[in-house]
Amino acid sequence: MRIDIITVLPELLESPFEASILKRAIQKGLVEVHLHNLREYGMGNYKQVDDYQFGGGAGMVLMIEPIDKCISSLKTERKYDEVIYLTPDGETLNQAITNELSLKGNLILLCGHYKGVDQRVRESLVTREISIGDYVLSGGELAAAVLSDAIIRLLPGVLNDETSALTDTFQDNLLAPPVYTRPSNYKGMEVPKILTSGNTPKIEQWREEEALKRTQSRRPDLL
Ligand code: ADE
Repeated sequence: MRIDIITVLPELLESPFEASILKRAIQKGLVEVHLHNLREYGMGNYKQVDDYQFGGGAGMVLMIEPIDKCISSLKTERKYDEVIYLTPDGETLNQAITNELSLKGNLILLCGHYKGVDQRVRESLVTREISIGDYVLSGGELAAAVLSDAIIRLLPGVLNDETSALTDTFQDNLLAPPVYTRPSNYKGMEVPKILTSGNTPKIEQWREEEALKRTQSRRPDLL
């Protein structure tokens, strides 16, 4: 898989891909992530990328031309499955969308800023619009990092058995059950006996029941 991220703030997106699981996935060659500074496609001597909105009002709008140039230049190199615009008014991200996107080959993620992008970008260049939740960030960069992380950890070979995505919260529309590690007794707080019994089928059954209980009490909307 290849992810190309278009942004006016590439610095903000460097560190997430330079640590931990994402870094390892890139090093193993399981995914390529490329950051593109929109300003390099900006207009005139000042490399302008935004302008005042027609009709008046506060806040700058990212112009279509630099975005079009950047996306067009990427598209001359390869085909893209989706051009995703990160925006609070997009469809809300969930595990099903993440699973679906993890099966794609090449993705472009476009980060908005200020008042967002010219509507014509959304109508002519973008194929999908995603929000990471009902709150407003100062730009799409952190949303692009969240989306990339959620996708990349699902790619074959990224997680090992221990961190397998199959038992994640949401993977079967259930929250994950409680987990414990040593010591089995901490200041009188005991680990459930079943977990130290060695009875694997019973443990599996307990985990399913706990997952269901937790989902019923915290997120009945998932059931
Ligand atoms: N840009 C600003 N806020 C956002 C959000 N909640 N999701 C995606 N992109 C955004």
